[in-house]
Amino acid sequence: MLRAAVLVSGGGTNLQAIIDRIKTNELTGVSIVCVISNSKKAYALKRAEEAGIPAVCISPSAYEDREAFHEALMAGLKEFEPDLIVLAGFLVTIPPAMIRQYSGRIINIHPSLIPSFCGQGYYGLKVHDAALARGVKISGATVHFVDEGMDSGPIILQKAVEVMADDTPESLQRRIMEQAEWRILPEAIQLIADNRVRITGSRTIILPEEG
Ligand code: GAR
Repeated sequence: MLRAAVLVSGGGTNLQAIIDRIKTNELTGVSIVCVISNSKKAYALKRAEEAGIPAVCISPSAYEDREAFHEALMAGLKEFEPDLIVLAGFLVTIPPAMIRQYSGRIINIHPSLIPSFCGQGYYGLKVHDAALARGVKISGATVHFVDEGMDSGPIILQKAVEVMADDTPESLQRRIMEQAEWRILPEAIQLIADNRVRITGSRTIILPEEG
């Protein structure tokens, strides 16, 4: 059983997608061992509680400085001994020590087709704002491993989504969630649980299904 820790900051619809797939057996061999939020207001914490998953808030504001927060975050995670850390709308920079400790075992969902509209300052609705301002006809989502850079780790899965002429950032965000994020995040977790993802340098190779 792959032990997944899910880190969140907000609504938690991606967390919900994972919970739902496990419940319906569309995602197998995976259990969510904890949900950690940096904000106690995150609705994602409620979703975790409702699903009977340990839900913890580790907020930077409760600590003296960034270092103390990072230590608390890493200590909090360690308690649950995760095999995989899933950043599902977690809007806090991951400490380098944590990236080293869980090397190749942290994944992130980003709401664009990386390398477009990613990196510093591109998160949540800002990504869709920028995509609409640039006038792209296609956007989408990406699941990737987390390395020391911003949205720069090896890509696992991507899915394209059409941009409509009358889209607002909100409508585009919703379509990308429904058509891409909620599908490829559980899919990527399944691939990892099935041991089908290999990192080779800056890329990944997805191994064919066995049998
Ligand atoms: C999602 O759209 C996710 O891709 C994005 O935040 C949203 C969280 O929604 N993440 C980023 O922008 C990371 N750079 P959710 O809390 O409903 O899953």
